Amino acid sequence: MAEAVDYRALIADDMAHVEALMREVVPGQSRALTEAIHHVLDSGGKRLRPTLTLLVCASYGTARAEQVWSLAAAVEMLHTATLVHDDLIDESLLRRGMPTINAMWSPGATVLTGDFLFARAAELAANTDNIRVITSFAQTLTVIVNGEIEQMFKGRGAWPSLEEYYARINAKTGVLFGMATGSAAILSGADDDAVRGLTEFGRHFGMAFQIVDDVLDIVGTAEQLGKPAGQDVAMGLVTLPVIHFARYHPDHPGLVALRNGERLNGESVAGLVSAIRESEAVRDALGDARRLVSDGADNLRFLPNGPHRRALEYLSELIVNRKF
Ligand code: IPE
Ligand code: IPE
Ligand code: MG
Ligand code: MG
Repeated sequence: MAEAVDYRALIADDMAHVEALMREVVPGQSRALTEAIHHVLDSGGKRLRPTLTLLVCASYGTARAEQVWSLAAAVEMLHTATLVHDDLIDESLLRRGMPTINAMWSPGATVLTGDFLFARAAELAANTDNIRVITSFAQTLTVIVNGEIEQMFKGRGAWPSLEEYYARINAKTGVLFGMATGSAAILSGADDDAVRGLTEFGRHFGMAFQIVDDVLDIVGTAEQLGKPAGQDVAMGLVTLPVIHFARYHPDHPGLVALRNGERLNGESVAGLVSAIRESEAVRDALGDARRLVSDGADNLRFLPNGPHRRALEYLSELIVNRKF
């Protein structure tokens, strides 16, 4: 076990600047957009991605503070924008314990709010004045959108291989975490090996984080998560705990229905979710997440030893043990 580190205290001052940057208003900005941005930003969120960016930069201690804050804000803004669109696509009404934008506004207005957040994120990325960072930002967004549309067009009844599952979580979550840490290394003037290594650290961290999110969708409650539980199964999305469960109980009726692309009713979703919860599948998936994150954490050797690196080691353990 890594020693517990108060990672929030280490970066509290920087994070305050990041929060302020995300709330900056552009000239002539519609009041409706300002309110929507406050609504999503003030409702909480773990701020995990900018936390990683700030810890990597603080570990090196070489990048200019304004550039670091812009990068961290760009990363979180990009994440926020993807959530606004994701909730519309998933018809999700709850996020961070609050109504989603699509619960309050029309689909059109929700799309435009997400677009605005993407544009602000791009502007923040541009404020790093670093062409490699800006390119990485743009490429990250192309991978995310491409992954999401692949998932959408596969549709119900598509049973992913393990390889396809990992490709999906890499695209939807891994690459953004990889950008959060890799771009931090770029801004810090790290050499190519270190940039590659820290990108890999973030990518592994992000994929493990997504596996835990997929597990929490099965074992968590809406109150704990601040967003609907059991949603993936209801949407016909086959995640890692479901893939493991299928090895133990290939003939479970809910699973058969899922494989046939049928839409499960509330009772069938609850039945399948509780069967998965009681099986070894959850433990197996969490074991996979732990292995992933520990493989990636080897790359922390590229960072100077110190409290910020220890905080990243600690966070690597925390995210695979989290409950919300
Ligand atoms: C939710 O991300 C989407 C996933 C990639 C699993 P977070 O769990 O980081 O969401 P917030 O920002 O803390 O609400
Ligand atoms: C995150 O995945 C979506 C994106 C990265 C766009 P999820 O769909 O699992 O996120 P939650 O569970 O709604 O937070
Ligand atoms: Mg979702
Ligand atoms: Mg999820």
